[in-house]
Amino acid sequence: MGRVLLVLTTLTIISCSQSNDQAKVLQLRIDSLESKLAAAYKPGFGEFMGNIQIHHNKLWFAGLSKNWKLADFEIKEIKETVEAIETYQTEREESQQIAMIKPMLDSVETSIQKNDLAQFKQSFISLTTNCNNCHQATHFEFNVVKIPDHPPFSNQEFFIQSTK
Ligand code: HEC
Repeated sequence: MGRVLLVLTTLTIISCSQSNDQAKVLQLRIDSLESKLAAAYKPGFGEFMGNIQIHHNKLWFAGLSKNWKLADFEIKEIKETVEAIETYQTEREESQQIAMIKPMLDSVETSIQKNDLAQFKQSFISLTTNCNNCHQATHFEFNVVKIPDHPPFSNQEFFIQSTK
């Protein structure tokens, strides 16, 4: 009986120390993954905004040109970037305000779906006002967005012949 007990105790000690070792190995892997994750690149809030700025500009010229397919593409790019801010910029307090822009984006999108130039212009103006409202709310009021005078790049065609 005594020998059986001794064997059982020894086995328990061995299996305990094995699972201890396994836990240590796992912890090391978790630590290493965590530090890799912390060092992983993700765009900053300003970079996402710079991206929105480009698409906001292109959207205007696509809409003015009644290039509705391109306008639809541009509005969707802005929407995706807004979602990316919500996903990747959770630690920034300002991200809580980003949702305010969604109804404006939806109304621009509706005007595009209806191929309605007058409504497009009106909703784009409201959208732009909303960009500035958020800049004010987040103390970036010195960052003023306006209706663009020129397309952002000279190597993209906006004025595609449209039958509508
Ligand atoms: C959360 C509310 C919010 C909304 C809505 C918003 N912005 Fe911003 N925007 C910010 C904040 C905050 C910054 C400063 C980011 C930083 O810390 O770099 C910024 C910065 C910018 C910049 C400066 C980027 C640079 O690199 O110079 C531009 C341009 C810009 N926004 C354009 C827009 C446009 C266009 C819209 C509307 C389609 C818009 N923003 C809507 C909050 C907002």
